[in-house]
Amino acid sequence: MRARGMEMASKDCVQVAVRVRPFNKRERDAGSRCIISITSNNISIQDPRNPQNSRIFTFDYTYWSHSGFSRNKDGLFVSEETGGRYADQASVFLDLGQGIHDNALLGYNATLLAYGQTGSGKSYSMVGYGPNKGLIPTLCDRLFQSIKSMQDSRQCQVFFSMLEIYNEQVLDLLSKTSRSAGGLRVREDQQRGFYVEGLRRVPCDCAAQVEQLMEQGTRTRTTVATHMNANSSRSHMLIIIHLKQIFSKECITKQSNIYLVDLAGSERQRSSGSEADRLKEGTAINLSLTTLGNVISALADMALGKKVVHIPYRDSVLTKLLQSALGGNSRTVMIATLSPADICYEESLSTLRYAERAKRIQNKAVVNESPTERLVKELKAENAKLVLRLSRLGQEGRKADDETKELRRLLTHNELQIRAIQTLWEQHLQEALKDWENQYATITQERRMMQMHPYIMNINEDAQLSGVVKLFIQEGEWDIGLADNSPRSLCIRGLGIQDKHAVFSNQQRRVSITPVAGSKVIVNGVPVSKRIELQHLDRLVLGSNSTYLFIGFPSERSGEDWSRYDYDYFQSELAAAEGFHIQSLCDDQGHRPHQPDPSLLAVFYDYIKLMPMVTEANQMSKELKKGVEFKLEIKNLAMSDSKGHDLEKDIAVRVTSVESKQVWMWSKAKFVNRKFLMEEVYQQQVVGGEGADRAPLPRDRDPFWDPLEPLHLGSAHLWLQSLAFRIPLEEQVDVVGPEGTEEAILQAQLVPCSPTGLPLGEDDILIDPSELLGKRLDFQLVLDQCCGLRWVKEARNRGVQIGFQVFDCPQPLYTPAVWHNVNPLLDHRIQFTALRTSQELLNFLQSNALVLELWGLQEGCSELVSSMDGVKMTQEDNIIIDKINASEHLTAETGGSDLSSSLRALHQDLEQLRNSNAALRKENSALREQLNSARNGVENNRGRQERRGSLRPSCDAEFAKALKVFYHSMTSVRGQLQRLRRHKPSEEADLLGLRLFVDEHTYLLKDFSEQLEQCVTTLKQDVAAIVRRKREKSGIWS
Ligand SMILES: Nc1ncnc2c1ncn2[C@@H]1O[C@H](COP(=O)(O)OP(=O)(O)OP(=O)(O)O)[C@@H](O)[C@H]1O
Ligand SMILES: [Mg+2]
Repeated sequence: MRARGMEMASKDCVQVAVRVRPFNKRERDAGSRCIISITSNNISIQDPRNPQNSRIFTFDYTYWSHSGFSRNKDGLFVSEETGGRYADQASVFLDLGQGIHDNALLGYNATLLAYGQTGSGKSYSMVGYGPNKGLIPTLCDRLFQSIKSMQDSRQCQVFFSMLEIYNEQVLDLLSKTSRSAGGLRVREDQQRGFYVEGLRRVPCDCAAQVEQLMEQGTRTRTTVATHMNANSSRSHMLIIIHLKQIFSKECITKQSNIYLVDLAGSERQRSSGSEADRLKEGTAINLSLTTLGNVISALADMALGKKVVHIPYRDSVLTKLLQSALGGNSRTVMIATLSPADICYEESLSTLRYAERAKRIQNKAVVNESPTERLVKELKAENAKLVLRLSRLGQEGRKADDETKELRRLLTHNELQIRAIQTLWEQHLQEALKDWENQYATITQERRMMQMHPYIMNINEDAQLSGVVKLFIQEGEWDIGLADNSPRSLCIRGLGIQDKHAVFSNQQRRVSITPVAGSKVIVNGVPVSKRIELQHLDRLVLGSNSTYLFIGFPSERSGEDWSRYDYDYFQSELAAAEGFHIQSLCDDQGHRPHQPDPSLLAVFYDYIKLMPMVTEANQMSKELKKGVEFKLEIKNLAMSDSKGHDLEKDIAVRVTSVESKQVWMWSKAKFVNRKFLMEEVYQQQVVGGEGADRAPLPRDRDPFWDPLEPLHLGSAHLWLQSLAFRIPLEEQVDVVGPEGTEEAILQAQLVPCSPTGLPLGEDDILIDPSELLGKRLDFQLVLDQCCGLRWVKEARNRGVQIGFQVFDCPQPLYTPAVWHNVNPLLDHRIQFTALRTSQELLNFLQSNALVLELWGLQEGCSELVSSMDGVKMTQEDNIIIDKINASEHLTAETGGSDLSSSLRALHQDLEQLRNSNAALRKENSALREQLNSARNGVENNRGRQERRGSLRPSCDAEFAKALKVFYHSMTSVRGQLQRLRRHKPSEEADLLGLRLFVDEHTYLLKDFSEQLEQCVTTLKQDVAAIVRRKREKSGIWS
């Protein structure tokens, strides 16, 4: 939707447009929800976790490209109905591109920036895909049309440059000479401002030529991306169009620079672990984008009248080059692109905030107009003088042959010079055209080959770069690898690619691939080591992560859309082959496949995204002989909080030293940071070639290394409910690892006791926990022994500690470390005291567990120490819990896992028990009154009173006993529940195995529900019996 009637006054503010793209395949498959809506030029975004919470932003232009469109016969995405809300490429151009075009012709500098997260549609809007041409090609098309139509009034010269900024290095995408190390330099000139020294400027005179140059630039970009193993989404692409208009009649020249910028994906590094990395961020990668954000913020503040001392243009290459575009002499437009999916909420919100700031920026654009070049002007003036003198000489009739000759010579020389200056442009143009024709011939040749032979084409993470490299497999055998030493070799680069990596064979119209021993080849997600025949549209992964799509013989192609085989498809296929797919994740969690939990989806996406990075990190570690291996893990897959609710899942990377078996766990953010640093090291040491710095890095700067820290191995739950009844609990609890593995068995006790630590007896058992309210509660946590420690079994030089945090105790506490023992005795006893039990504590005891965390220690890492900061103690040296103002959230009931719902059901039963207890008491007092009023005989009366006196304690004791039985049986039910949650089919299970698993699972479930039923029924029966007996004994109804 477009905002109409833009005011002239706002012209020099940066204009901001926002565009929402359709769901991509991944989002569609996952049943994502659209959280963006647009009305007029307002855009609203809804928080998927809290749908009431939505934010509205207003921009100059908003584009709904999410729905309401179809693909027409030419492959163009157009609105389904005329006048529909769908914004196609043409309407976006009409608003944004046309303005750039008009401004450039008027002599203004103009800039168009695309900002948004990876895959949000920046390149779609800027460059376009196939027939859906983006702003840049259309702009060039229109520009040359206009130039043609105005050629009588002016002479126009167009120069085209294309560059990439990656890691603060500038790379000329049109340069044919080999790249200089460190890239091109950015220099500053008084008049021109910042510019790239030595950047190729290609003269152009038609749109087709520009398109050709863009294709060439994209090719270079692709080659660089595959060679450098760089994450392409981190590079910025800039196109600079220099337009020069010479108005000979008016003796005026107008010049305009058009900057067209497709920025790198704007992902914020979500600090999932929130811990800062020991090594500074792989900063250069992000520097340009971060600085751009800082410049925009500073300019936005300035526009709001705040005092801004410094605008950090000079801090990065990108902002140097965009200085005039932001707050300077340029008419600037930013298009912010968004994914509509719930899963991208955080990123989309951050893009909208960024765009909101950008729209405040004020520029001061002026027409870049100057008198036509001095030299030509001077020469023309001199010629005029010469002509005058010559005519005077002629009039005077003086015979001054020599002088006349000399004057004529000068005149001719000057004219030649003028012509030379004017033809220079044409010469340049001719040269460029020749170059262009050569390129064109290459492309025509490639197109011909595509119609004749099978080939493989590259698939890149950045869809813009996919399909650029095509390697033809003509008849016969072809080696593929790094080596380029024979006419029958296909040269590719990339991590983990060997000199001779594999052999393609094309014989009798069949194509096959044979991996060379030791090289990694994956076909359709499955690693292959022997010759395998390829079918049209097979997916190949060579080395660590070089992805190619095989295109069969032309007769096998049936005009199908290949775009679905994108980078995501490859990665999902690899993950699925490893047994990791969205279904399995959801099934594990009991979600129906078509209703995946957004947090699980986020994990799934992260996993897919990090998977190739982990493969690459492993390859770099191998080549640099670092001796560490990386592996993705899902944190908290099987973990729950103290209420038994599932913990939020996240991705972590397990780093293992192959030799010493030392282990580190890195957060996602830390790994991503380290991966960029690793690339830098790798680039320097392996790719750097001759003279590269190969000195080993000191440990403190080595991205592969970290000091050892204790590792969280898993947790066990010790339910606290028995404490509310002052019943002791002795349990063997399973310590479960993040992915559901059994890490150990822990013997633990909860012992209600006196202030001095003497265990309470049966008489102290409570029927109604509310009796605890306001009273002192003392209990001891006893950690007796840890058995079957998997962590120590794996390497004997390891140790463990148990950590726990009780209710509102401000610090986690740890048992002393025990080393080198698979079944260590802990013998750890610690007493807690609630001086006046609050309702919060009581609720906590009734519905929460004490989470016992198992921490793994490794030789050389420091042990965990209990900090006693803020911890209060009683006279007896017990730790005080339940201080006033215990946070309220502990009482908040939130629905969730199976365990909590079964606990809720039990609570209801307990509530009923409490009610019947209260009813019994009422009855008792009624009885008492009846008895008092019916004092007919002393004997009789005494007899009844005796009976009543003995009734209450015996009844209470029976209740207590029933409850005790109940809690003990619940403990085993809980154990059964945990076993059920961890029960998973084996990874290698075939159909039969799966069937067996299902049978076993059904049996376990049945067993579980029977046990649960049994517990509750026994309790109900016991209570009913007690009530019956009591009534019988009271003799009222007997
Ligand atoms: N408005 C749209 N209509 C249809 N498809 C779109 C639209 N926007 C984006 N897409 C599709 O989404 C995919 C990703 O888009 P694109 O390559 O433009 O993302 P990007 O923001 O440039 O990502 P990167 O940061 O990785 O370069 C492409 O396949 C593209 O065709
Ligand atoms: Mg892009």
